[in-house]
Amino acid sequence: MRFTVAIDGPAAAGKGTIARAVAERFDFHHLDTGLLYRVVARKLLDLGRLDDAESEAPVLAAGLSEADLALNGLRDDPVSEAAARIAVLPEVRNALIGFQRWFAGREGGAVLDGRDIGTVVCPDAEVKLFVTAAEDIRARRRYREMHGRGETLTPDEVLQTIRVRDALDTGRGVAPLRQAVDAVLLDTSELTIESAAARAVAVVEKGLGRGR
Ligand code: C5P
Repeated sequence: MRFTVAIDGPAAAGKGTIARAVAERFDFHHLDTGLLYRVVARKLLDLGRLDDAESEAPVLAAGLSEADLALNGLRDDPVSEAAARIAVLPEVRNALIGFQRWFAGREGGAVLDGRDIGTVVCPDAEVKLFVTAAEDIRARRRYREMHGRGETLTPDEVLQTIRVRDALDTGRGVAPLRQAVDAVLLDTSELTIESAAARAVAVVEKGLGRGR
C-alpha cells in the first residue's frame, strides 16, 4: 500500500511529535524533512563555509546520505538558523526533493513533516495537515525543550530565534511555508500534545476510509 501523510507547520508547533505518533499508530515510515536541511547546515558550519552557502550548500545537499540524518548536534540553535538560511536556496531544495518524493512513495505508507510537503513535495498526498500554534506558545515550548538539553538562551532570545525562522520560512520566494488549500488545520495552542496527536490520528483514519 502507498499512502502519504503530509504534515507542515512552523517551528515548535508540535508537528514532529504528531508525525511520529501518526507513523507509530499506522506503522508508516516517517521522515522529518527538516533534518535534511539541518544536515546541510551542520556540514557547512563544520567546514566554516556558511558564507559560501550559495555555491557549497547545493553540492552538500546532492551528496547527502540517509546515514547523515543520525549526525550529532542537528538540533543545536546555530544549526536551526543556518538551516532556515540555506533553505531559501532553490538549488538546495531541488537537490533534496527527489529523496523526499522517493520516501513518500515507499511501500507501507509514509508520514513526512516539514514546511512544503503538502504544497510542493507531495501535492497529491492522501492526507494533509497544517499544524500551528500561537507564536508565544511555540516559543515557550521551544524554551523548555532547549533548557532540557542544557542550552542557555533566555525566553526572549528563543522568541527572537522563532521569529527569525518564521520570517525566513514564510517570506522566501521558493516553497514558502503556507497551508495547502486542501490541508486540515490543527491549531495546538490550547491542546496537550496527546490530544493534538489523537486528532491527527482521527484525520488519517478518515483518510484511510476507516473513520466515521
Ligand atoms: O523542521 P525543522 O525546524 O527541523 O526545519 C529546519 C529548517 O529547515 C526550517 O526552519 C526550514 O527553513 C527548513 N525546512 C524547509 N522545508 C522543509 C523542512 C524544513 O525549508 N520541508
